[in-house]
Amino acid sequence: MQLPPSSGPAPRRPSAHEAVLAAAEVFIRQYAAENPGDGDPRRRLAEVTAEVERFGTYEHTAAEVAYGARVAWRNAARCIGRLYWNNLIVRDLRHVTHPDDIAGECFEHLRIATNGGRIRPVISVFAPDRPGRPAATLLGEQLVRYSDDPRSTHRVALARDLGWKGGETPFEIMPLLVQPGSGLTPELYEVPEDAVLEVPLTHPRHPGFAALGLRWYAVPAVSDMSLEIGGVTYPAAPFNGWYMGTEIGSRNLADTDRYNLLPAVAELFGLDTRNERTLWRDRALVELNLAVLHSYEQAGVSMADHHTESRRFLAHVDRERRHGRPVPTDWSWIVPPLSGGATAVFHRYYDPEDPELRPAFVHRTAEVPRGCPYGAA
Ligand code: ARG
Repeated sequence: MQLPPSSGPAPRRPSAHEAVLAAAEVFIRQYAAENPGDGDPRRRLAEVTAEVERFGTYEHTAAEVAYGARVAWRNAARCIGRLYWNNLIVRDLRHVTHPDDIAGECFEHLRIATNGGRIRPVISVFAPDRPGRPAATLLGEQLVRYSDDPRSTHRVALARDLGWKGGETPFEIMPLLVQPGSGLTPELYEVPEDAVLEVPLTHPRHPGFAALGLRWYAVPAVSDMSLEIGGVTYPAAPFNGWYMGTEIGSRNLADTDRYNLLPAVAELFGLDTRNERTLWRDRALVELNLAVLHSYEQAGVSMADHHTESRRFLAHVDRERRHGRPVPTDWSWIVPPLSGGATAVFHRYYDPEDPELRPAFVHRTAEVPRGCPYGAA
């Protein structure tokens, strides 16, 4: 289709202040709409406007941070676990800026989230970026990661550069890397043992499974996404939920570019791997997933199975619909990587994703300039 030539002056690019103000206004109005009785949005907006005009940014109230973090979860199109978005525990740590203290609070985050195995969804929100003064960030995908996981290659290299001597044995936990500001040398912190709960993997029927020596950690705490609320970016805002078994059994331990364990599992179970049509991969996947679910259950660590989590997600979609809110959803991430068609979430379409939707968790690695030695981790 031919568009008519545009008339009038070319649209002016909004200045940084205007962009912050526009985002702030949308957020303040949304906050007021969903938190009626919590003050007059016009007054709050006047306050925010004055602050932005003076400093180029503004300070959220504690309630705004908590609400913003929860709605960022609600908006996460790839997350199947959103039913509990409003129960997220929000740790307001905006005053914490020294790398030592950030590391200490990340470890405390893990303890609070672990809760002896009854995993609690938690986010720790550290200081936001300010104009010309980027805040500290965490390098690495998650607070807990293993050094022999191919996903850690970059962080291992970085840690070695910084003098780390570990990473020799299987399932060794990576040190946490805190970068005090953009372009600055990261600080390295070993994760204390009491901050990480791990689960050795066994199989409900095959006693030989334990000899594979597999394990995984209890709390998936994502640390490479910025939390964006109303024009303010919180680059250090690690958050966690509990695991769904397939994340470990079908992806982390099974993907060929991760631990690639299907051949070893197939051998243990005596499957015929000479021919794809024996479905040895599929059978090995089921055994591995069974072992993951069984082991977490035995260890008393919260974990969802993909059938139950699928039904919960559809309950979430229904509930949001009743509130008149769309549920932006990425089908390819929501459908579990095992028995997709046997789960309830497979058989329908969803509201489209909206990359502009805020509050949101936004991948930080994409924003790192190429060639930055301490960039993508
Ligand atoms: N898929 C990632 C992993 O396997 C974790 C992502 C967040 N998952 C969660 N259940 N909250 O480590």
